[in-house]
Amino acid sequence: MSRILITSALPYAAGAKHLGNLAGSMLPADVYARFQRSRGRETLYICATDEHGTPAELAAADAGMAVSEFCAQAHTKLHAIGRGFGLSFDHFGRSSSPQNHRLTQRFAQQLWEAGFIEERVTQQVYSNADKRFLPDRYVIGTCPHCGYEAARGDQCENCTRVLDPADLIHPRSAISGSTEIEIRDSKHLFLRQSLFAGKLRTWIEAKRDRWPLLVTSIALKWLDEGLQDRGITRDLEWGVPVNAFEWGPNPDGQTPDIEGLAGKVFYVWFDAPIEYIAATWEWADAQAAEAGRDPPADEAWERWWRQPAAADVTYVEFMGKDNVPFHTVGFPCTLFGINETLASDGTFTPSNNAPWKLVDQLKGLNWLNYYGGKFSTSQKRGVFMDQALDLLPADYWRWWLTANMPESADSSFTWEQFQDQTNADLADVLGNFVNRILKFTETRFDGAVPAGGLDGPLEARLDADVLAKLRELTENLESREFRKACASLRQLWVLGNGYLTEAAPWTALKTDPERAAVAVRTGLNLVALFARVSEPFIPFASETVALSVGEAFPGRWPSLDGSRVLDILPPGRAVKAPDVLFRKVEDAQVAEWRERFGGPEGAA
Ligand code: 2FM
Ligand code: ZN
Repeated sequence: MSRILITSALPYAAGAKHLGNLAGSMLPADVYARFQRSRGRETLYICATDEHGTPAELAAADAGMAVSEFCAQAHTKLHAIGRGFGLSFDHFGRSSSPQNHRLTQRFAQQLWEAGFIEERVTQQVYSNADKRFLPDRYVIGTCPHCGYEAARGDQCENCTRVLDPADLIHPRSAISGSTEIEIRDSKHLFLRQSLFAGKLRTWIEAKRDRWPLLVTSIALKWLDEGLQDRGITRDLEWGVPVNAFEWGPNPDGQTPDIEGLAGKVFYVWFDAPIEYIAATWEWADAQAAEAGRDPPADEAWERWWRQPAAADVTYVEFMGKDNVPFHTVGFPCTLFGINETLASDGTFTPSNNAPWKLVDQLKGLNWLNYYGGKFSTSQKRGVFMDQALDLLPADYWRWWLTANMPESADSSFTWEQFQDQTNADLADVLGNFVNRILKFTETRFDGAVPAGGLDGPLEARLDADVLAKLRELTENLESREFRKACASLRQLWVLGNGYLTEAAPWTALKTDPERAAVAVRTGLNLVALFARVSEPFIPFASETVALSVGEAFPGRWPSLDGSRVLDILPPGRAVKAPDVLFRKVEDAQVAEWRERFGGPEGAA
């Protein structure tokens, strides 16, 4: 049986995360991880905060905090919110961890020594007053297109034109406001991605039938536009330092320019994907620490990532479409470079190191919008993850977002649709079913699973229908088709309601108590089944449902081999109706939330 390694795109430590961020990577990864665990597969779901780069530096400066302190706080907060949504990370790491520093530095060294990194002199903006290079966003000035006076060096917020700091009129430092800035030479490291263009294309072409079209088309478009070598260092203080003094010569016998590279850090998009691996190392260390053991040998985490130990691992990544190029082109180039050496005639040979694993399945998602426009922190449009949990329990959000996941196209959140769908699916179908059968068992069958009676044609038909639906649900989850999976699960719940209405134990009880016993027993078994198969989607309610029929939680995914799927509960088992499983979302709440978070007006 294969092991399943799952990662979701690492959220930036800076900035609030909205529902689209949840729906676009962490939630599908969690649904999939829960499903795989319940199938009995050894599963590891890894995520982390992405803590380096200018956004973190700027957000920390805005908050008047040291960047390390700011990131530590953001990490704790994001982790807590993730737990609030039931995200079942096996480890939620930090890209600023010592493990990531070491691994990023080790990979860079290997890339240099294998000949895949080159030094280049680039022109960067330098501020004399601040005594530092200024990344694009740290330079402000007047936009040459619209005259906006506070345009940033990378983009004008007013007219949205993409800019270069050199385009700005009256450029000045965003840190000190000083106009004493100049262009200076700065040495940087470039990953020679262009060498891998052919290899990448072959790799991506081979995935055409297995990856979503969205993903392969984005990847191939990048390749078609010509793969550029990529600068992997920056003139920043916060990040993983370049440790060039430790490096040996490259295949041409050159050693790096230690002085020229002093004080630089790796580019955030170089170290962030490496954190997927480093966070697995953090996980292994944390497990050992928890058990009071010394840090484990590298094999403990490398078994998920390095051949031959990882031969039975299927690696599945989840991310929004903007991340796809970095994961189909950027990160694979890093891994290709580590797995290979470059000979002087330009050919590649496998390196002597055990190769690192590349992604097997990549689920790329589109955007979730808010009333057809963007979620926006600055304009206070849309619901953010921490706010959502103050309004309603996590399962409402999980269900709606999974059922409307932006899989084949962008999708849009509206309060009206959210109300309609959660009320219909969760309250009217699932909640009503669980409540109906359990209340009836309490009042008419002493709160215990009844014995007696024999299944009839109605049960035989139900069994066949349930099995067929379960197979469909399982296939949809295996292939990460989440909308379809929600539809299958909903249909399964509907089968339960349909059965109860038809079997009508409340009527049968008067004339044929054994028939009523069969119907109630079958209904209670459906409850137990629903708890198991709803768990990946709505884990909190599923736990309540499982406990109401005395089942362990989380349970195992049902066997699909044709044996009876509704033979779960032993007769005589005590059961108890839970409190209302899902309260309906009221019109007054929708009106209030539209007012507070914005409605259709103002969608942009
Ligand atoms: O786009 C983002 O939010 C990035 N922080 C994702 C990084 S994913 C991985 F490479 F680390
Ligand atoms: Zn402008």
